[in-house]
Amino acid sequence: MRAVDIIRKKRDGGVLSAEEIRWFVSGITDGSIPDYQISAFCMAVYFRGMTFDETAELTFAIRDSGEIMKLPDIGGLRVDKHSTGGVGDKTSLIIAPVVASLGVKVAKMSGRGLGHTGGTVDKLESFAGFRTDLSRDEFVSAVRKTGIAIVGQSADLAPADKKLYALRDVTSTVESMPLIVSSIMGKKLAADDDCILLDVKTGSGSFMKTKKRSAELARIMVDIAKRSGKRARALITDMDKPLGNAIGNSLEVIEAIETLGGKGPADLTEICVVLASEMLSMSDRGTPDECRRKVEKVISDGSALATLAAMVKEQGGDPRWVYDTSLFPKAKYSAPVTAAEDGFIVRTDTEGYGRAALILGAGRAAAEDPVDHAAGIILHKKTGDRVSPGDVIATLYTNRPETLEEASAVLTASTVTGPRRPASKPLVLGRIE
Ligand code: URA
Repeated sequence: MRAVDIIRKKRDGGVLSAEEIRWFVSGITDGSIPDYQISAFCMAVYFRGMTFDETAELTFAIRDSGEIMKLPDIGGLRVDKHSTGGVGDKTSLIIAPVVASLGVKVAKMSGRGLGHTGGTVDKLESFAGFRTDLSRDEFVSAVRKTGIAIVGQSADLAPADKKLYALRDVTSTVESMPLIVSSIMGKKLAADDDCILLDVKTGSGSFMKTKKRSAELARIMVDIAKRSGKRARALITDMDKPLGNAIGNSLEVIEAIETLGGKGPADLTEICVVLASEMLSMSDRGTPDECRRKVEKVISDGSALATLAAMVKEQGGDPRWVYDTSLFPKAKYSAPVTAAEDGFIVRTDTEGYGRAALILGAGRAAAEDPVDHAAGIILHKKTGDRVSPGDVIATLYTNRPETLEEASAVLTASTVTGPRRPASKPLVLGRIE
């Protein structure tokens, strides 16, 4: 086979065979296909799309390009939740300890933030000393001991995706349904959990800006997971506004701790209860209503918080920070962002909020950039809230004071006010089994 023939076939709208897709992906993995041909392949897929069978084959080829995380020594059903990426989305930090405290094993591999979206690994590293690079044996031993561990993706997991993703990023081919599906699901299937709950975000802060596209993404991902023998469900959830009030690593960890302690913002608490209940019901722990009651109980009796503290201790952090969040280092500089007009916040460009946090130092523009764990934004007003001129809508935090002006301008430009309160939207907009 020749790469140029496969590229031409896709460019002309042909349907690739399983053999052609496997051959191409193995050439990506072993380095025999040069970057310019991989890039041309991505562009051909971007314009021509792929059938469901092609997308599934591409996903399985990416999954098989590296190690499959078989963890038979952990025992029991392993369950994971994956979010397609959003702003202020700290749900994994809350849901994982909740379900682990109810006896479901969580052996989770998470990513770092990139662009306007945050990543669980960066957030957890806000605990000084927290290790996300556990060896396989340490990972298994942590899950056996505490029921939970969250680590970064090992370099051996789906290496073809690393190459593809890096090239998509610089060839403007990220927003392609088959490429997004195969990238997310290739990694998820390589992690080899038994049950996968997909939290597909929709709206101005997510990759998919419309509900129709998000539902399509969800449907294909669930079907591919099922084809590979996994239990899978997807919820389509709102990302037209940030989740909770905190954006930025340690600020989000603190908000997650408050939520686990029963004192979190209502939207974040509700979405976490819904997602955790779904994860439990997928792992045969009862009906959705029974699961909801169990989730509410471990939040109110402190056992979910205790599970987080146990995980922090096991992975090298100081568990006292879970019970005294004043121990997290604070940013040296802060500044308020105020409303200029009278009215209601009718809409936010949530991606712009993510960009403002990135400018303050909370995110990274390139994969190798460091993050400032204390940088970020606390929102005091969100969509639907009334504002008057001078009201503080957000406080910015950073260790780089020169970023405050630009971040403030981006946040202001991303906040739209109007005379009428907008209709409130449900947090869960759809469900795909
Ligand atoms: N997350 C991924 O891992 N890949 C994509 O293509 C988009 C989001």
